[in-house]
Amino acid sequence: MERSLRPRRLAEYIGQDRVKRSLEIYIKAAQGRGEPLDHVLLYGPPGLGKTTLSTIIAAEMGVNLRITSGPAIERAGDLVSILTNLKAGDVLFIDEIHRLNRVVEEVLYSAMEDFAVDIVLGKGPAARTMRINLPKFTLVGATTRLALLTGPLRDRFGSVLRLDFYSLEAMEEIVARSAEVLGVDMSPEGAAAVAERSRGTPRVANRVLKRVRDYAEVSGEGVVTPAVAAEALAMLDIDPLGLDDVDRRILRAIIEKFDGGPVGIDTLAAAISEETDTIMDVYEPFLIQLGFLQRTPRGRIATKGAYLHLGLQPPSGETAAPAQPTLFGDV
Ligand code: ADE
Repeated sequence: MERSLRPRRLAEYIGQDRVKRSLEIYIKAAQGRGEPLDHVLLYGPPGLGKTTLSTIIAAEMGVNLRITSGPAIERAGDLVSILTNLKAGDVLFIDEIHRLNRVVEEVLYSAMEDFAVDIVLGKGPAARTMRINLPKFTLVGATTRLALLTGPLRDRFGSVLRLDFYSLEAMEEIVARSAEVLGVDMSPEGAAAVAERSRGTPRVANRVLKRVRDYAEVSGEGVVTPAVAAEALAMLDIDPLGLDDVDRRILRAIIEKFDGGPVGIDTLAAAISEETDTIMDVYEPFLIQLGFLQRTPRGRIATKGAYLHLGLQPPSGETAAPAQPTLFGDV
């Protein structure tokens, strides 16, 4: 059987133990009752496996999966057509669900709660509403920003599951598995070197692994050793903690242009010519996790750890050794 980089079943899925255990129970219980799974909301930084989990949920339930995203559903009619084409038990995955517009979101409320939608036929005085019943489906919503979801939408999910950055051990396992799938010859130490610099994110690890493989094939003997991995990562401008050029520009801008902060996110984004949303969704979560950046009501602040990591003198003039940044959370 051909194995893909993305795990297809829950048993193959590495890490996120809390989420995995919850899903295992909900899926078993729903199957026991012969019912579709309750709607599930997955949230967390990008690249941690929200789409993958939706494919796994559909596979475990033995149903079809339909994938779409918030921005792709422009009109209520688009959503109604997707919903009426589902079969009983099917999984509908809506990525970036916080970006649904108001009108579409309203339609989704009744679809989720009553498995029905009301549509308006005709215009003016002759207009009539008609209720269309839908098959019982499972909505899997995904978002990087739980706070942007409206209360009524959030409340309609039977479970809300948070994905965290992966532990180093889980990342090592994922890198080793991906190397096997891709047929990359790699020592366990080589896998550890890639895992350490992949910011607790499988999508990053898989991308880095492919570039490291290129490097090993062209400039080495094709084997990924820690030395080869380190050289390839240096070429990619990824530092020993996994920070890339944009991460460092963010920290440098706060420190050098705004005296270490606080600085508002929009000002910071303009200063380094990046999108505010990209900084908030992609970069900040990991910098916060490392303890290099703080979000305060007055803006972003660079911590002492950030100064030291960049080889800069923290403002207080202290030279005491910093607490070692913890790479990964309590996953
Ligand atoms: N590939 C990407 N994410 C994965 C995960 N969580 N487990 C196994 N393989 C993966």
